[in-house]
Amino acid sequence: MNPLLSVKDLHVAFRVQKQSLKAVRGVSFDLYEEEILGIVGESGCGKSATAKALVRLLPAHSSLISGEVIYKGENLLSFDDRKMQKIRGKEIGMIFQDPMTSLNPTMKIGDQIIEGYLHHTKNASRKEARAYAIQLLELVGIPQAFTRIDQYPHTLSGGMRQRVMIALALAAKPKIIIADEPTTALDVTIQAQILDLMQEIKKKTGTSFILITHDMSVVAGYCDRVIVMYCGRVIEKAKVEQLFARPSHPYTQGLLQSIPRLDMAPDQPLVPIEGSPPNSLNAIAGCAFCSRCKFATEVCKADDPELKKIGEEHLLACWNKGSDGTAN
Ligand SMILES: Nc1ncnc2c1ncn2[C@@H]1O[C@H](COP(=O)(O)OP(=O)(O)OP(=O)(O)O)[C@@H](O)[C@H]1O
Ligand SMILES: [Mg+2]
Repeated sequence: MNPLLSVKDLHVAFRVQKQSLKAVRGVSFDLYEEEILGIVGESGCGKSATAKALVRLLPAHSSLISGEVIYKGENLLSFDDRKMQKIRGKEIGMIFQDPMTSLNPTMKIGDQIIEGYLHHTKNASRKEARAYAIQLLELVGIPQAFTRIDQYPHTLSGGMRQRVMIALALAAKPKIIIADEPTTALDVTIQAQILDLMQEIKKKTGTSFILITHDMSVVAGYCDRVIVMYCGRVIEKAKVEQLFARPSHPYTQGLLQSIPRLDMAPDQPLVPIEGSPPNSLNAIAGCAFCSRCKFATEVCKADDPELKKIGEEHLLACWNKGSDGTAN
């Protein structure tokens, strides 16, 4: 199966106080049709920088992007602004953590959806667009969509606003939606409803999602495949079942030990990952995780391991694991 989107050796650096902060260091992955691909990793590991680079939403004056983002046979990183505007929204939609930063507070929610639809749909009438907006609001579970359509964002609850954001992203019928921590600001019940909704939309419309999260339980419940990022690199990539059945990178193992699970004994303590990631302003010689890794050896300090196949669709970047994923 051909990928819908192919990211190859993506690098993102920010200019910070006349220095270069390497936020993304050689990330590669494919996104296939009708899948939810999770990107997981702790704060600052480069998840949002990766997402924004794909749709070129990083500030051009302070960031440097290289690599390839292949979509429909073309490299999006070579597109000018005008060409890129046709991709954003229409081909690749986006949902961010805080809906208030993306919704226009001075515009009725329906009008925002209608504009999105009309902008990307040739020859559509406003009446048709309004009917479609109501349909979308219903699809994302807004009750009385018929009247809600004429409300302003501030009159809605946080969960409702997040649903409107999803409707807005869906308005142009994109092939891909990038959802960057779309539920972090919401309480758990609403979070589950929104994520269930994304799964439903994937099934109903065939849209693929890139779901960015720092929450392993969200990955377990909603993603088909997952990439684990650490310090700007992909350190493990697998189908979700594989990752949970056989987490192989010491960092992934640490992530899983640090979250509560239903099958744990009530008195079993959670194990935090000691230490912190290296400063991305400094050059990182070996494996970025080695200062926190109990298996680290000399080679880990000297060289960064490449991602290698350790199973069907399971890749790992670690010097201390054999081809079967167990410690050497
Ligand atoms: N516009 C920017 N200018 C300078 N540095 C930035 C900018 N955006 C991000 N960074 C830095 O790049 C690195 C990666 O940031 P990014 O926002 O991608 O992390 P993240 O994985 O999304 O984290 P979080 O889970 O907290 O959202 C961090 O060190 C961050 O401080
Ligand atoms: Mg982020």
